[in-house]
Amino acid sequence: MTENTELINQARQARQQARAPYSGYTVGAAVLGTSGRIYPGCNVESSAFSTTLCAERVAIFGAIAAGESGFTALAVATSNGGTPCGACRQVIHEQCGEIPIYLVGENSDQPVIFTTSQLLPHPFGPDEI
Ligand code: THU
Repeated sequence: MTENTELINQARQARQQARAPYSGYTVGAAVLGTSGRIYPGCNVESSAFSTTLCAERVAIFGAIAAGESGFTALAVATSNGGTPCGACRQVIHEQCGEIPIYLVGENSDQPVIFTTSQLLPHPFGPDEI
């Protein structure tokens, strides 16, 4: 099993923990830290909609809270192979830098792969402040 297969499997597993009673759209994520550890995330929706958190940010913030200082890859699992939202793209850019992002739906084990800069060209970041 390759590293990416494990990362994708963990994103799919995390998706099963999603709490998406309002949208019905469950998302799982898994981020690989430079330590070699993998951190899962899932979306958690709120009745006060704006307090919902996306799977990607749950994974990345949880990894940071656990002491991880760098990231080398991210996998996102959805029903349809959907791409990260704009807010998550910003966080991926700032916290992960240029990494591969593996997107998988239910119908294929073959991920679509983007890099951070493909998803967020011309980013805003700390250098602009
Ligand atoms: N969602 C994610 O978890 N990640 C994304 O990048 C896209 C959107 C979640 C948020 C919400 O719970 C549901 O998907 C529908 O927008």
